[in-house]
Amino acid sequence: MIRPRKAIERLKKYRPPLEGRGGKLRLDFNENTVGCDPAVARALRRLFRPEWLSRYPEYEEGRSELARHFGVRREELLLANGTDDAIKMICDAFVDPGDTLLVPAPTFPVYEFFHHVAGGRVLRVRYDEHFRLPLREIVAALRRTRVRWAAFANPNNPTGTSIPPCDLRAILEAAPRTVVLVDEAYCDFSGETVLPWIRKYENLIVTRTFSKAFGLAALRMGFLMANRNLAEMIHRAQNPFAVNSVALVSACEAVRHSEFARAYAAQARASRSMLTRKLDAMGIPYVPSAANFVLTRVGDRASEIARRLRKKGILVRDWNYDPHLRGYLRFTVGSAAQTRRLIRELEALTGLVESRDGRKAWRDLTAFSSTGWFA
Ligand SMILES: Cc1ncc(COP(=O)(O)O)c(C=O)c1O
Repeated sequence: MIRPRKAIERLKKYRPPLEGRGGKLRLDFNENTVGCDPAVARALRRLFRPEWLSRYPEYEEGRSELARHFGVRREELLLANGTDDAIKMICDAFVDPGDTLLVPAPTFPVYEFFHHVAGGRVLRVRYDEHFRLPLREIVAALRRTRVRWAAFANPNNPTGTSIPPCDLRAILEAAPRTVVLVDEAYCDFSGETVLPWIRKYENLIVTRTFSKAFGLAALRMGFLMANRNLAEMIHRAQNPFAVNSVALVSACEAVRHSEFARAYAAQARASRSMLTRKLDAMGIPYVPSAANFVLTRVGDRASEIARRLRKKGILVRDWNYDPHLRGYLRFTVGSAAQTRRLIRELEALTGLVESRDGRKAWRDLTAFSSTGWFA
């Protein structure tokens, strides 16, 4: 019998996102909920000619344009087939079997996924019950263990919490031989970035995506930025044609009209405030978020609430399967009308929600907000 590598034998079966989401209100995967800039769709229609489609992609012009837009040099930016692919590129370049990845938990699961595919071990450091980043434990682990790479989503998914710059600096400085990924998939919503630091820290990689504020999740377009040495190492192992021409042209068109993503992010932030005001009024605890989603504690009947919302055509992310997030649902926020619709349906389900005294609920989850833990 043919067997895969040991690392693949050990791998748990990947559960892909639900199918059949078209036509529903998609508040489950933190995408742009209204669609991309129509200017991008128009540009694609102009380009879809047989000759253009028959040609292998050419990257350098697009790469330069994106680098200029994001304020880095061309050699500091690598195109990727979504951030997921950028994460795989990091593993391809740096991870040998048995190497250690450090991640806070809970966080975006794809870091662990590709690290496991490469045969690595994972060291998870848990957020505390107030969803504060366990900085002291992280720094101690980085000093104690030989960690090959560490990954931090900022803001984090699924908590929505921001990592203060001083914490990221402490992490980068604690382990100069550890590659540190700061995944900025949601930075358009938080307004925070450490991108300028790639010139200062040789171990820093920053990733971005066109899947969120820009609304191009279907095209799988992301990129990573790092100092030229690190970028060159990763580039050496990269699939030469990982990014397709349609994705690259769309990304370039999207940054030429970046006011669309800015306006969408502003809309999502306003919706986030509308939703959290309502959650306060309903006494439902939530984690204050810097991203386009809110992690909410609705209680023991979380899965039932998610199912009922689905019947009403609203998809939300049920985190109840995670033993550390029992009773939690995550709601993506989009336009004001979509958020009002979510609120209306939640109000109709108040009987299922385990609400608490609103002020107490707020205190429970924000006990540390004044120290700057939550943006
Ligand atoms: C933190 C984080 N990084 C990356 C991604 C995926 O980005 P992409 O669609 O570019 O692969 C997600 C998607 O949910 C995410 O939450």
